[in-house]
Amino acid sequence: MPTAWSPSSSNRVVHANNLDVLPHLPDGAFTLIYLDPPFNTGRKQNRQSTTSVRAPAQAASVALGASAAGTITGFKGQRYERIKGDLLGYDDQFEDYWAFLEPRLIEAWRLLADDGTLYLHLDYREAHYAKVLLDALFGRDCFLNELIWAYDYGAKSKNRWPTKHDTILVYVKNPARYYFDSTTVDREPYMAPGLVTPEKVAKGKLPTDVWWHTIVSPTGKEKTGYPTQKPVGILRRMIQASSREGDWVLDFFAGSGTTGAVAAALGRRFVLVDQNPESIQVMRSRFALLPEVEFLPELEQARSPLPDFASDGAEARLGA
Ligand SMILES: C[S@@+](CC[C@H](N)C(=O)[O-])C[C@H]1O[C@@H](n2cnc3c(N)ncnc32)[C@H](O)[C@@H]1O
Repeated sequence: MPTAWSPSSSNRVVHANNLDVLPHLPDGAFTLIYLDPPFNTGRKQNRQSTTSVRAPAQAASVALGASAAGTITGFKGQRYERIKGDLLGYDDQFEDYWAFLEPRLIEAWRLLADDGTLYLHLDYREAHYAKVLLDALFGRDCFLNELIWAYDYGAKSKNRWPTKHDTILVYVKNPARYYFDSTTVDREPYMAPGLVTPEKVAKGKLPTDVWWHTIVSPTGKEKTGYPTQKPVGILRRMIQASSREGDWVLDFFAGSGTTGAVAAALGRRFVLVDQNPESIQVMRSRFALLPEVEFLPELEQARSPLPDFASDGAEARLGA
């Protein structure tokens, strides 16, 4: 990162490939990391032999920067490599995807505070492989939840059940120390209000691990025009429950900057990274009224008109 970051820095948006930025951030700096990576990374990797243990000495040795070398004890070493070798042999496309994601997840793990939480937003094509690999990578005892975000929008397949949900895997850095406070989470209406007291109806119920929430409406106020924008309402729950005011939140697949917008509204601080210039333009506009947001690199300060994404926004994949 061109300008060093410290916990006393301003909120920050960085225009870069995230893998170039992450090694410059200090260990344990973030209480919450939300990641909504693209599924199709456009990369094709050479297929590797996947049935043997490739790195017997250290877990996840792949792409470990020097910055992470001292913190590797949280990973599960040989076991992870063996599971990865067995699993990735089944699906070339997922192998490519994991090759992209793995070094970034290793950085995410390093950057999480000891009481921190990772929310990894995936869809049904990725979620099951990723769960097995993350169990092996973080440790199964660090798995906190599988959240289902269910929505109902767009065309519905006639030859199978229409797929209308995303999966968010939640892992904590330390199962004995993680921060979680569901009392601060926005409550929701009871599905059967007649079965509970009026007091309970008035208070609403605590969300479970299945979140019914509309997508960002193509005509609503929340819409930025960025095709893969996620709703404020789902980010609010994560940030309310898994961070405190003043904590740092990181999203290095930032897109339209929903994570930053919600973090700021809730009094948290943020670092966002995206490599797409259109994402940076959308965030400039979205954060225009926020005090103290630094955009890096400095050369990107020149303002240009917002691109028009309106035509493909509505039908774009919701989770990637
Ligand atoms: C699914 S979108 C994120 C949408 C976001 N959650 C929101 O609410 O707007 C994924 C983003 O990751 C960005 N991205 C993909 N690969 C990246 C990389 N290597 N470094 C930085 N950003 C990347 C893309 O430009 C895209 O904006």
